[in-house]
Amino acid sequence: MAATAEAHPNIAFIKYWGNRNPALNLPANPSLSMNLAALRTVTTVSFDPDLAQDEVEINGERVEGRAYQRVVAHLDRVRALAGRRERARVVSRNDFPTGAGLASSASAFAALTLAAVAAAGLTLSEAALSALARLGSGSAARSIPAGFVEWQTGERHEASFARSIAPPDYWALADVIAIVEQAHKPVTSRQGHQLAPTSPFQEARVATAPARLAACKRALLARDFTALAPILEQDTLMMHAVMMTSTPSLFYWTGETVTIIRAVRCWREGGLPVAFTIDAGPNVHCICPAEVAGEVEGRLWELPGVREVLVSGVGGAARLIEQEPRGAAP
Ligand code: PMV
Repeated sequence: MAATAEAHPNIAFIKYWGNRNPALNLPANPSLSMNLAALRTVTTVSFDPDLAQDEVEINGERVEGRAYQRVVAHLDRVRALAGRRERARVVSRNDFPTGAGLASSASAFAALTLAAVAAAGLTLSEAALSALARLGSGSAARSIPAGFVEWQTGERHEASFARSIAPPDYWALADVIAIVEQAHKPVTSRQGHQLAPTSPFQEARVATAPARLAACKRALLARDFTALAPILEQDTLMMHAVMMTSTPSLFYWTGETVTIIRAVRCWREGGLPVAFTIDAGPNVHCICPAEVAGEVEGRLWELPGVREVLVSGVGGAARLIEQEPRGAAP
């Protein structure tokens, strides 16, 4: 009745922004991402017949309000699938800053899905786990499979899941993350997705996303960084153009974000293979071959306003660490 799972957050090379079906998190466009090995969420779910209500603890603190309701809604989905009624205790820990554009909801809902499903005694395929995780947070669908992952939009719930297109050791890329702000973001991505259709640029972004994804996948499978770099940057700038031109306007960047964007472009012109991508926050993910990650990190530390630099390689799939009462998971 208890299970512990770990999952890594992922950084999207082709971004998901906006839903075709907000209730089911069916995305407006397909996306492609890389799991981040150095960052992880570990979550234990214990179903307990003596509990009167679900209890949720994240990073040592009891959670109430909207975050609590999101977890309860997800547990309800698992209870409905398993035909169970017991309430659960959820204890989750992130070993990276929460709410700073590091996609903590992706690893959180991937780990929660896997732990809750196992604790409830269910066995689901990877595709079914990914689709279920998607209902908690869209990008969580991509934190279930290993390595480099593609999430096709899918017309209905069962068809909208992510799958691995290359294992973690396929290409030694690194994400060197420049943290310029650790505070929680003022507008959550959940609210942001709802605003996407208010931007006149969203239609153009969505219409051209499949072509960018195909080009990104080609560059990735060919391990061609020169081809990958401009696609990454164009895709992230298109998403932020949509954000900035939504009503109301969402503006996640700070002055430091722009300084890093300009520096990365300058470094690349000077021969260093590195490209930027940015999620719904001000921090900048610098994607590069692993062999230059130390050089990129050193240069980032020299820029004004960089408070922390995290370096990660390519991560594996979400996995079970422990399961009771059947003993340790394989
Ligand atoms: O899963 P959500 O609702 O937090 O959406 C994530 C959206 C972005 O991180 C901005 C882009 C992406 O594809 O990960």
